Amino acid sequence: MQVDLSTTIAGVQLDSYLMNASGPKCTTWDELEIVAQSASAAVVTKSCTIEFREGNPEPRYSDLPLGSIPSMGLPNLGYKAYLEMVPKLKALGKPVVVSISGFSIEDNIEMVSAFQKSDVDLIEVNFSCPNIPGKAQVAYDFEQVECALKALTVLGDKPIGIKLAPYFDMSHFIAMANILKKFPVKFITCVNSIGNTLIIDPVTESPIIKPKGGFGGLCGDYIKPIGLANVRAFRELLTDDIQIIGVGGIKNGVDAFEYLLAGADAVQIATCFEKEGANCFERIENELAAFMANKGYKKLSDAKGKLKPL
Ligand SMILES: Cc1cc2nc3c(=O)[nH]c(=O)nc-3n(C[C@H](O)[C@H](O)[C@H](O)COP(=O)(O)O)c2cc1C
Repeated sequence: MQVDLSTTIAGVQLDSYLMNASGPKCTTWDELEIVAQSASAAVVTKSCTIEFREGNPEPRYSDLPLGSIPSMGLPNLGYKAYLEMVPKLKALGKPVVVSISGFSIEDNIEMVSAFQKSDVDLIEVNFSCPNIPGKAQVAYDFEQVECALKALTVLGDKPIGIKLAPYFDMSHFIAMANILKKFPVKFITCVNSIGNTLIIDPVTESPIIKPKGGFGGLCGDYIKPIGLANVRAFRELLTDDIQIIGVGGIKNGVDAFEYLLAGADAVQIATCFEKEGANCFERIENELAAFMANKGYKKLSDAKGKLKPL
């Protein structure tokens, strides 16, 4: 039985439910071209800043048995390079999602304004990078989120979404949902890595990555329950005009299905893509389709948000 995995985010048609997440292997033209040629439903760019950034000192990424710990520090080409790539990227035939990650509201206004005039399909504003020394995650400062959204949602008609940090308290879900409801935000992407975690190598007696004394964002299997809870909580608190892209610990079709039950409209994949390469999109898509077919489901909406109460 064929399962229809197509979906839409803010009216943008996606041939499948899976795409790459901003971060791994999406910084250079060559990397983005590989994403475009894979089964990823869209091409999501590395979060960009006003200027080119070298990023944090190495080693700044480590695989872990059940995920990864990066502290990259936003190495990227600078937003103008991605702006210039947009026509070429679009020509590869897939929706293009640009991720922007300014260090101030002014930075984000400049970048959102520029991409509003481009041909990108969706703009994802990253409010949750945990790995810039001395910079707090905007997503944990509710006043700043509100100010930023006030400024960023009036700059044009292209759909804007925000990439959120993981929340761990119901009062934070409620506070954030109440802010989101005030603005024409079209989607949220939940979750970024869990910031400021520490992995220690007992043999060397050192952290395993160098930046910030070894503090980095935890990703992969470790964070799936947190990603699922964030998607679920926001799905229950927000109205349907704000869609949700789930991310965190997806490495097979069953993980992707769990996010669907929690209410995700689409999902993104970071660590698994970093570890396995671009074939992961087709593999996970096939696994998801097979798992759903086995349950008799024909399309995403048959299961979306339909987590059954115990
Ligand atoms: C190497 C690496 C770099 C990342 N860089 C970014 C980034 O630039 N912008 C962003 O929004 N998230 C970034 N992330 C976070 C991912 O997009 C994703 O939210 C997180 O890794 C959880 O997904 P996963 O469990 O599939 O890895 C990065 C993750 C990794 C592993």
